[in-house]
Amino acid sequence: MSARVVLLPGDGIGPEIVAATRRLLEQLGDFEWDQRIVGGASIDAHGTALTDEVLDACRAADAVLLGAVGGPKWDTTDPEAPRPEQGLLGLRKGLGLFANLRPVRPSPALIGSSPLRPERIAGTDLLVVRELTGGIYFGDSGRDGDVAHDTCTYSVAEIERISNVAFDAARHRAEGSGRAGHVTSVDKANVLETSRLWRETVTWVAAAHADVELDHLLVDNAAMQLVSRPADFDVIVTENLFGDILSDESAMLTGSLGMLPSASLGGEGEGPGLFEPVHGSAPDIAGSGQANPLATFLSAAMMLRHGLGMPAEAARIETAVDSALERGLRTPDLASGPGGAAAEGETSVGTEEMTTAVIEALG
Ligand code: NAD
Ligand code: IPM
Ligand code: MN
Repeated sequence: MSARVVLLPGDGIGPEIVAATRRLLEQLGDFEWDQRIVGGASIDAHGTALTDEVLDACRAADAVLLGAVGGPKWDTTDPEAPRPEQGLLGLRKGLGLFANLRPVRPSPALIGSSPLRPERIAGTDLLVVRELTGGIYFGDSGRDGDVAHDTCTYSVAEIERISNVAFDAARHRAEGSGRAGHVTSVDKANVLETSRLWRETVTWVAAAHADVELDHLLVDNAAMQLVSRPADFDVIVTENLFGDILSDESAMLTGSLGMLPSASLGGEGEGPGLFEPVHGSAPDIAGSGQANPLATFLSAAMMLRHGLGMPAEAARIETAVDSALERGLRTPDLASGPGGAAAEGETSVGTEEMTTAVIEALG
């Protein structure tokens, strides 16, 4: 039976990179596609960023693959106006996707594309585990005259389940390596009460994972350490807003935001996961044919591995991506010459050529 996948291209470069990913996936298996609209496209069609019908279609699928949502057309500071990002938040909440996995593993071919010196990047292989359905993103918020508020709330149960995901991931990553798994919990416990509850909870959850090491970092220090000694990190677990910020920072370790994939998962056996690149809709390059599709390809690989039980096909995508990069193919965001130009040994390509090259490299 073929897997049922809901495709949500979204806005900006979303439709371009999702079409490319569909082409790639069609080389690897039979999929039953159900393409729907979300974000700004859904606001234009229905006045809301996520309809009940689309959420129901996602619930009934085996996996959901999303491009990106948002763009200047829908940017507004009016609290009453619908916003594209509500579509994404509604999907995460509606599908119960509390665990967001963002793996950061720079491809050897891209070491020169990172803004950091190669000796700093060497050996970097980390995983950001971001709590995705709590915190300030989902607390009470509002405006009262010239005052606005957003509330950050966390419960022990929310912190406990994301901590377990992080410890399990660290154990799994260390298997067979001869080293112990390591979790770094990131918070702001010197200021925030939610962070003190976070630290307390992660610490007692750790007792049930004695084979995994745990340490704690304050978020400002973590932001600094990530660029000064990225290779020392293994698994980073953190709350929703800190995870959002630290994962874009981590993405640059891979050379570009255009490289970082993600998987958003719920509890074991609790419905489909959502797979999407970490980057946004890149309105500045939408329609130019220059978008880097690789973060979406790698998100599709995570979908095959975590969502559809197709690990061999997932590995084929990852190897093919590495091989296209080793051949020197670079979308402008990856090129190491000035202003997105190709440097020596690199070939400038757009979305289309990169997609064809990765498909050819599948072998
Ligand atoms: P962005 O991630 O869209 O873009 C930041 C920069 O990175 C831009 O210069 C862009 O051109 C570049 N970039 C991003 N992805 C790229 C790719 N695949 N290939 C080449 N270059 C790429 O962030 P932004 O500009 O702050 O946000 C634009 C819109 O996207 C906003 O409306 C925001 O809310 C939305 N957004 C959506 C998601 C999502 O849907 N998951 C994530 C982040 C931002
Ligand atoms: C991300 C994005 C989203 C977030 C936005 C678009 C709501 O930045 O997936 O990282 O903040 O979670
Ligand atoms: Mn983000």
